[in-house]
Order: sequence, then structure tokens, then C-alpha cells
Amino acid sequence: MGVRVPPSANHGEPMKTKGRVAIFLSGRGSNFEAIYQNSLKKEANFEVVVIISNKKSARGLEKAKEYGLPAFFISPKKFGLKTAYEKEIIKTLKKHDVDLICLAGYMKIVGEELLRAYENRILNIHPALLPAFPGLHAQKQALDYGVKVSGCTVHFVDAGVDSGPVILQQAVAVEPGDDEETLSQRILKEEHRIYSAALRLYFENRLKISERNVIILA
Ligand code: GRF
Repeated sequence: MGVRVPPSANHGEPMKTKGRVAIFLSGRGSNFEAIYQNSLKKEANFEVVVIISNKKSARGLEKAKEYGLPAFFISPKKFGLKTAYEKEIIKTLKKHDVDLICLAGYMKIVGEELLRAYENRILNIHPALLPAFPGLHAQKQALDYGVKVSGCTVHFVDAGVDSGPVILQQAVAVEPGDDEETLSQRILKEEHRIYSAALRLYFENRLKISERNVIILA
């Protein structure tokens, strides 16, 4: 028996029309922007309700403010212990009634506090076909290894680094002459597509976790 992932924790309240998504980022924020733009489409079943960054200077945070979205810098340094930092994050998430967290270039490992509070409700995007090339500089790792195909992965987040159950993957061919920049750009284009596709499935309640497998229900 697998765990059917709840699309939202409604607890007997009336059904919300759209899933409420928080985006965590630390930098550029192009995945945030793609998700946000897709959320504005008429058929979207999710909306971006809050942006959180651990980096004050993150470009993504600025962009979120430009769009008029609630966007917060929460300083890990201010809180010292990760549990205290994450408790502060959880307060913000609760205030915005968040159903699902999307890590999008969030350069911190999620700790116990958040994992417990949002069990099976945290997704991440990684620019490689996991389990190949987890961690930093995945595109460079792929080029250095000499693979002919790399890609991107959306997965549930667990306590490890890029190690949770895989939801969607998209392969991207490595072309002769590719460097880190050119390969990253082509992968990024696919990241922008599959992250929203995974969100759509999540909020259609079509993802069922069965041990390591994520079954996509028809
Ligand atoms: C993306 O390549 C993502 O896969 C990785 O970090 C990068 C973030 O880029 N986790 P952006 O900030 O979304 O533009």
C-alpha cells in the first residue's frame, strides 16, 4: 500500500479551488518565475502565495516583490540553530496557508522541523537525471563524466541531498561542443516545463508514493 499524497490539508474545511504553493529560493529565481507565470494561466490548479529566501540579495526575491507577491528574506544566521530558523519559516507558511513547498534553487538542506511539518509536501528540481549527479554543479558533473544524455528531475524532498522519490524527469541530449552554460540553458528550459507539470499532477491528487516509487495515477 502506498501513501496517497494529500493535495492539501483541508481538515474538513471547504475545498480550496487552487493549491497554495510556497517557493523557496536563494538566487536567480527562473524556476520561480516559470511556476508563477504558469500559475496565472486560466487552467492552472495552483497559485504562488509566498516566496521565501535565505539570501537577502537573491534576484528571485526582488522579482517576487516586483510582481507584488509576499516575499520574505528569513536569515538563517539570525536564528542560529536550523530548528529555530525552520520554525520561523513554518510560521510564515502557516500564515499564508501553504499546501506545498517548491524548492527552486534553494541552497540549504531541509531539516527535520520542516520535513515533519510538511511531510510529502516538499518538492525540488534538480538539473540532472537523478540518481546521477546529485549536489552542486550537476551540469558540470555530467559534462566531466562524459554522458551523452542528461536532463532534469522533479522529486519529493527527504532528509538527503537530491535523494527523495522521483516524480518526473526529462532527458536532454548533450551536444558535441556543449559547455556548462549551453547545457544548463537547454536543461533549464525543460526544468521550467516539468516543475509546473509536477505541480499540476500533485494538485490533481494523482501522485501516490509507494516506497521509492511515485505512481502517477491516470
Ligand atoms: C536550477 O538549475 C535548479 O535545477 C537548481 O538550481 C537552479 C536554480 O535556478 N536546483 P533558478 O534560480 O530557478 O533560475
